Order: sequence, then structure tokens, then C-alpha cells
Amino acid sequence: MSVARHLAQGARRALRRTFPGLALRARRRLPGQFQDRSHTQPDRYPWLFEFAKSRLGDSDRLRILSFGCSTGDEVFTLRRYFPGAAIVGIDVDPGNIAVCQDRARSEGAQNLTLAVAATTEHERAETFDAIFCLGVLCLGDLTALGFERSDPHFTFDEFERTVTDLARCLKPGGLLLFHSTNFRFGDTRVAEAFDVAFEADPSQLGTAVIFDRGNRLMPGERYPAAAFRKHAGETPAT
Ligand SMILES: C[S@@+](CC[C@H](N)C(=O)[O-])C[C@H]1O[C@@H](n2cnc3c(N)ncnc32)[C@H](O)[C@@H]1O
Repeated sequence: MSVARHLAQGARRALRRTFPGLALRARRRLPGQFQDRSHTQPDRYPWLFEFAKSRLGDSDRLRILSFGCSTGDEVFTLRRYFPGAAIVGIDVDPGNIAVCQDRARSEGAQNLTLAVAATTEHERAETFDAIFCLGVLCLGDLTALGFERSDPHFTFDEFERTVTDLARCLKPGGLLLFHSTNFRFGDTRVAEAFDVAFEADPSQLGTAVIFDRGNRLMPGERYPAAAFRKHAGETPAT
């Protein structure tokens, strides 16, 4: 890297640290978007996919949602773990979904539905056996820039609204799986309709800082619960 580029990068970083609120607002998030970084990779969380497979098996009747699927590594990974399942991938960023669609065409993928959406409000109730929401319900800058509060950039209410609708879309007995969230699913009202099904090892947790129901930073908080099973026969609270 040239000296000029290195200096410019350092100056940008210093500005972001001095005016974190401005820096975060200046990022161009799409309407309804949470995490705006699209980083993904194949088989990113093998321990979580293995857990889901051990619970769900690989029946041809499974329906699985990847909420925030980015450019598609997650849906193509899920196709390997669950070869018979119908998989739906949604992402708020049309550019990401276009990349997924190209890949689906070039691989002749069957049983795969891809859509641009910021919520699950158009999905039917009790339709999925598992919903993966990995690296989506967080903002990288809340951690990177050391925010003491998450609002107004991302609020507990937005988190609760989103996970409550994910819960609506899940069949009784289905699994809701999270990684890297800025809030704890266990703090939401809808969590009453779930049991913790899997806790991650500390080494498997992400670095996202955690905020409480009042959007206040919980310094040092780590939240290992990564998979939740919806009780059979109960409608989640709204
Ligand atoms: C860091 S990537 C995670 C990709 C993948 N889930 C993984 O873990 O590898 C976050 C993705 O979530 C998407 N996203 C953020 N907010 C969303 C929303 N409200 N609805 C759907 N997708 C969203 C972003 O566009 C981005 O592609």
C-alpha cells in the first residue's frame, strides 16, 4: 500500500472514531437493512449446520429459510447439508440476490427460491422447519466504533419485530438459528414460545457487542444461545 493511501486510511479511521454517529449515518443502508456488510463464505458455521442436520435429518419435505443470504454461499451450503430440502434465500440487497440467481442458473439448482426482501412479512405462517439468520441482526460499526447505545441506528424494537415475524413463519417444533446479533433473542417476548436447543462454545461466538432491551450496551456480555426450538402447538406472542 502506498504511503498516501495508508495515511488516508488512517485519517478516515480517526474521523470515524471521533464522530461515530456521523460515520454510521453516512453508510448507505438500504431501507429496512440491518447489517450492510455482505461478507459470507461457504460452510461458515459448520458446527451450527451440523447441529441443525442432527435435529432435522434430511427429509425431502423440509423447508428452510436463509434470511440475509447475501451472495449465496449460505444457501448453497444448506443445499449440501439438506439435499432434499426446499430452500428459500432472501436478502434486502438486489445486487446480492442477482449474484445468487446467476449461480443458481449456472448450477441448474432445483428447489431453490430467491427473493429480494427486507422482512419475512410475505412468507406464510408456520411454513419453515428451520430459519437461519446468521450475521444479519447486527451492525458491524456498533462494535467497531465502540457505541454505548445502539439507538437510533438499530433498536431492540426493530430486533424484536424481526424475530417475532421469523417465529411466525416457523412450524411448531421448528428451529430458529442465530449468529452475531446485537440483542439477545431470550430478551424478546416471543422467546417464551421457544426452548434453547443449542449453545455455542465461546470460541464459536462472534464479536458483536450486545445491547439490552433499552438499547444500552451490556459491557462484556456474551450470549451463547444459538438455536431455539419452537414449542409444538403454540402461537408466539406478538
Ligand atoms: C454479513 S452478511 C451475512 C451473510 C450470511 N448470512 C452469512 O452468515 O454468511 C449480512 C447480509 O444480511 C443482509 N441483510 C441485512 N438486513 C437485512 C434485512 N432486513 N432483510 C434481509 N437481508 C438483510 C445484508 O444485505 C447482507 O447480505
